[in-house]
Amino acid sequence: MRRLLVTGGAGFIGSNFVHYLVEQTDVHVTVLDKMTYAASREALAGLPPERVELVVGDICDAALVDELVGGLSGEGDALVHYAAESHNDNSLNDPSPFVQTNIVGTFTLLEAVRRHGVRMHHVSTDEVYGDLELDDPERFTEATAYAPSSPYSASKAGADHLVRAWVRSFGVAATLSNCSNNYGPWQHVEKFIPRQITNLLSGGRVKLYGSGQNVRDWIHADDHSSAVWTILEKGRIGQTYLIGADGEKSNLEVVRLILEAMGHAPDDFDHVNDRPGHDLRYAIDSTKLRTELGWRPAYGSFEEGLERTIEWYRTHQDWWAPKKAAVEAAYAAQGQ
Ligand code: NAD
Ligand code: DAU
Repeated sequence: MRRLLVTGGAGFIGSNFVHYLVEQTDVHVTVLDKMTYAASREALAGLPPERVELVVGDICDAALVDELVGGLSGEGDALVHYAAESHNDNSLNDPSPFVQTNIVGTFTLLEAVRRHGVRMHHVSTDEVYGDLELDDPERFTEATAYAPSSPYSASKAGADHLVRAWVRSFGVAATLSNCSNNYGPWQHVEKFIPRQITNLLSGGRVKLYGSGQNVRDWIHADDHSSAVWTILEKGRIGQTYLIGADGEKSNLEVVRLILEAMGHAPDDFDHVNDRPGHDLRYAIDSTKLRTELGWRPAYGSFEEGLERTIEWYRTHQDWWAPKKAAVEAAYAAQGQ
């Protein structure tokens, strides 16, 4: 049976990909996850044990990584690398784990796939390209220059550069993808959309950073998973593919959609302290992925995916409620 090693497979997007693999393919999945605050065993609960195995460990642990990557010797076996520290606000408070996991961890994986000759797909973010003006006619493409703004995006950019260098200098068989903002089930309540939904569900108010004019390009995590699988199956080695679903919305627009969908007045939100260095706009041109590999998103609209996501948080209070108070206390301490 074909085997995939999925790092960060107990996180928001990694666990979505594991579900995708179980439902859409017949591969065996080993998840390597450190089970940080962002991980969730519940997101993997109920998956067949003969298909999915969880190894709790650190991608910086060279001996463990070597053993797991060394087990990927069959035709079509691969490492898919999602593990990361992923939240910009956390990286502003303490960049250290971001450098360690995102850069040193990626280096550790690259050395193992180099030694064992294993195929790798590296999952990255559109934030490595910095930000755009609101009226910029160009969106990010694979040719856009790197210009990261935060410790998080700089550490992801560093990881991307390592992967590209290992492809060129050592002939490592890797592909890369840079995706826009994901939303959907199992996203930690520290992030924008789940934070606002769960604020309203727990009797609090919506919190908008600064003016709310900042634009993000939203894609459902299900569509990110199908894109990564497409690249793994059909992508050209050494290539980067941008993943996006033409979902640009200002934060203010998103807040108003959430308020409306949850039966609140359109101005029922608070402006709070802005994020230092806050990127203004991200926007992805995914032409290469669509024309070269034939990928299309399944979700017709952001509004459709958002309604389903709100419903999911309504019915999964047991999962998010224990995390909520500490997250809100930390935000409150910084005026957010
Ligand atoms: P997440 O924070 O929800 O999950 C990250 C997972 O990685 C967690 O399960 C965590 O325990 C694990 N992890 C962290 N450090 C580890 C380590 N040292 N060793 C092993 N496991 C470790 O993140 P996410 O939002 O699911 O993002 C997953 C990947 O997708 C990241 O690489 C991120 O940069 C990228 N990405 C995210 C988005 C987004 O909108 N969330 C968009 C584009 C790309
Ligand atoms: O673009 C891809 C990136 O998207 C990923 O690489 C990151 O891992 C992921 O966290 C996300 O980064 P952002 O910083 O864009 O996402 P976040 O959910 O933190 O914030 C989205 C926008 O909402 C951003 O402009 C900040 C704003 N915001 C955020 C929070 C938490 C608010 O206005 N209020 C909030 O309470």
